[in-house]
Amino acid sequence: MKDESARMGSKIAVIGTGYVGLTTGACLAHLGHDVICADIVPEKVEALNRGEIPILEAGLDDLVHEGLRSGQLRFVLGSEHAVDDAEFVYLCVPTPQGEDGSADLSYIEAAAQQIGPHLQSEAIVINKSTVPVGSTFVVEQALGRADVSVVSNPEFLREGSAVHDFLNPDRVVIGAEDQGAAIRVAGLYLGLAAPLQVTDPASAETIKYASNAFLATKISFVNAIAAVCEAVGADVNDVVLGMGYDKRIGNAFLRPGPGWGGSCFPKDSRALVRIAEDAGYDFDLLKGVITVNEEQFERVADKIEHMAGGAVEGKTVAVWGLTFKARTDDMRDSPALEIVRRLRARGAVVQAYDPSVEEPGDPRLDGIEIATDPYAACAGAEVLAILTEWDEFKWLDFDKVGETMAAKRVVDARNLVDRTALLRRGFVYQGIGRA
Ligand SMILES: NC(=O)c1ccc[n+]([C@@H]2O[C@H](COP(=O)([O-])OP(=O)(O)OC[C@H]3O[C@@H](n4cnc5c(N)ncnc54)[C@H](O)[C@@H]3O)[C@@H](O)[C@H]2O)c1
Repeated sequence: MKDESARMGSKIAVIGTGYVGLTTGACLAHLGHDVICADIVPEKVEALNRGEIPILEAGLDDLVHEGLRSGQLRFVLGSEHAVDDAEFVYLCVPTPQGEDGSADLSYIEAAAQQIGPHLQSEAIVINKSTVPVGSTFVVEQALGRADVSVVSNPEFLREGSAVHDFLNPDRVVIGAEDQGAAIRVAGLYLGLAAPLQVTDPASAETIKYASNAFLATKISFVNAIAAVCEAVGADVNDVVLGMGYDKRIGNAFLRPGPGWGGSCFPKDSRALVRIAEDAGYDFDLLKGVITVNEEQFERVADKIEHMAGGAVEGKTVAVWGLTFKARTDDMRDSPALEIVRRLRARGAVVQAYDPSVEEPGDPRLDGIEIATDPYAACAGAEVLAILTEWDEFKWLDFDKVGETMAAKRVVDARNLVDRTALLRRGFVYQGIGRA
C-alpha cells in the first residue's frame, strides 16, 4: 500500500543499477518518488528484488529494503520494461574508457535506443552518466523522439558515502536547453537542501569532468610534494596540515597515498585530455597530473622492494587493502591492484587481505593469495604494505603482526598507522612523504 507522499512523487525510471543507478533509485524512492530500476543482468535484478545488495555502500541496504517494502522501488530486467509510465528517465549506465582515451558512449547509445520507442510524450531523459560535451545531443539522436527532452544532471557522489552524498549534495547541476525541462528536473530535488545550478548542457558536462580533474590534480600535487618532502627531510603530514589552514587551499583531498584510481578519475581525466585535444587545446597540465599518478604507483612499488632488501624476487609481501579506497568493495582501477601487479611482475609472492574481499574468484585477483584475516596475510612476509586506508588496520595487534612476519617491516602507503607505536615495537617503518 502506498502512502500519500508516494502519490505526490513523480514516476521515475532508472536505467542501470550500479553504484550510481542503485543509489539514485533508492534515494529517489526515499524522497517519495515512484521508482522502477532496470538492468540487463538477470542475476542482479533477481538479487535486488530479493533485497540483496550487490555492492558495499553504507546505508544503501536500508533504503532498498524500505523502498521494496513500500512498493516505491521496483527492479525489472530490460530498460524498455521500466519506462512506459515514466515522467523522468535517468541514464546511469557505464561510460568506460575507449581505446583512444575518449569516453565510450556505446552503453548510453544502446540504452537510449532501447527506451526511445517506449517513452511517453513529454518525458524527460536525464543523463547522470559522466559523458563528454555534446552527449546530450548524442542521446537525443539515439532516442529519435522530438517530443522528449534530454537534460544533463551529472552525479558527484563518492563511493563509500554515496547515499549520504546523494541526499546531502554540495550542489545539484542541471544542464538543459529547455528551461521548462530544467525546472521540472529541479523539482525532483526539492527535498534536498543544496544549491541548484541551471546551465547549458555543455557547461554541465564540463563541470563534472573539470571537478574530477581538479580533485585528481590535488592528489597528484600532494604526492609530488610528498616526494619533495622525502628528498628534503620534511614531513608531508605537517606540510599538508599547514597548507590546509589556508582557507584558499583547504585540507580536503590533500592526503598523500599510493596514487588515485577507482572507476572515475582515471577514465575521466583521460577523457578530458581527449575532449580538450579534439577541441584544439593541449591540456598539458592534466597530462602531467596523470603522469605523476603513474609514477606514484612505481614509487610505492620501489619503496616496498627497497624495504624488502632491494629485491622482492621470490619473497613474500603482505598487502593490506585491495579496493581503490576504504568503505567500498570497488576494485576498478585500484592503485592497490596496480602496485600488486608491479610487485608480482618483479617476482614477489603476494598475500593480501581486504575486509571487503571475501573470496577469490575475481579474475583481477588471479595469482594473489587472498588471506581470510590481516594476520594470516602477514605469515612469513618480508614486508607488509598498507595500500588501502581501512580504519580497522589502525587498531590491529602489531605485536602479533610482528610475530607472524619473517621481518618486521612496514610500508604504509596511506600514512595510516601509528608510526611511533610501530617503531617502539621494533618495526622498520616507511610512510609516504615522511621517514
Ligand atoms: N561510481 C561512481 O562513483 C560514479 C560517480 C559519479 C558518476 N559516475 C558515472 O556514472 C556512470 C555509471 O557508473 P557506475 O559506477 O554506477 O557504473 P556500474 O558499472 O557500477 O553500473 C552500471 C550498470 O548499468 C547496467 N547497464 C548497462 N547497460 C544497460 C542497459 N542498456 N540497460 C540497463 N542497464 C544497463 C550494468 O549492467 C550495470 O549494472 C558512469 O558514467 C560513471 O562515470 C560514477
